[in-house]
Amino acid sequence: MTAGSMGQISAKTLVIIPTYNEKENLPKIVGRLHAALPATHVLVVDDGSPDGTGQIADDLAGADAEKRIQVMHRTEKNGLGAAYIAGFRWGLERDYTVLVEMDADGSHSPEQLHRLLHQVDQGADLVIGSRYVPGGSVVNWPKRREILSRGGNVYSRLALGVKVKDITGGYRAYRREVLEALDLDSIESHGYCFQVDLAWRLIQGGATVVEVPITFTEREIGESKMSGNIVREALLKVTAWGFKNRIQKLKNLTKRRKAAA
Ligand code: GDD
Ligand code: MN
Repeated sequence: MTAGSMGQISAKTLVIIPTYNEKENLPKIVGRLHAALPATHVLVVDDGSPDGTGQIADDLAGADAEKRIQVMHRTEKNGLGAAYIAGFRWGLERDYTVLVEMDADGSHSPEQLHRLLHQVDQGADLVIGSRYVPGGSVVNWPKRREILSRGGNVYSRLALGVKVKDITGGYRAYRREVLEALDLDSIESHGYCFQVDLAWRLIQGGATVVEVPITFTEREIGESKMSGNIVREALLKVTAWGFKNRIQKLKNLTKRRKAAA
């Protein structure tokens, strides 16, 4: 069955694509997405890209006879997290039932989106397209970047005590209700630790998180926006969340002991 089939939760899926200087990548990714899953709607969230990506997004939207493409223009480059939160708000104000995160640079294959949507239809609240479960892989990444990603995941698993193998992964599908239940205003993560932040909040809230294998292919055109600041933010925040969690657990334990005494 396709994502557009009637009666499926994923029948009204919105794919949110944040962009910063992706003028060559954007038309390709949107074309591939609509070839794979014609019924999905797209929201491009552009942070005023100097290379004119915003205009290209508007042109794509104007040329789509089925009106499946919308564009949000923001004036400042505020990071991936802020762009996604603005996109989630937009989608939640409308009647989308599943909200998807997808990079513009081709790293997240639209041809594999059906795997994520299938799991939402099976009852998952958050589905993460995972590089680090059996069947998942990374193509063309520099060794440094792979070490950083694997290290970041191992560290997050240990610090937070979660089982998710690819908690930093950015190819995701959220069931509408779990985003509605989150206090989006309270999310301060700007960079890629936004991904860990959201998964962590949902896991703590008891949501069902499922990983499906994906092939992550490094971009061929343009540059990654990964920076030292993004890595530092992630390390500091994950460490702080881990400590907070442990202290909370300790408090709960001592409370239970006192109550039992
Ligand atoms: N609007 C907006 N504003 N978009 C942004 C910004 C921003 O400040 N920063 C990045 N983007 C967009 C890019 O244009 C691209 O479409 C997408 O977000 C991902 O950015 P990349 O710079 O290509 O990310 P990456 O390949 O280094 O990182 C990917 O993998 C990480 C895990 O290894 C992303 O999927 C991350 O979310 C993920 O954590
Ligand atoms: Mn990328």
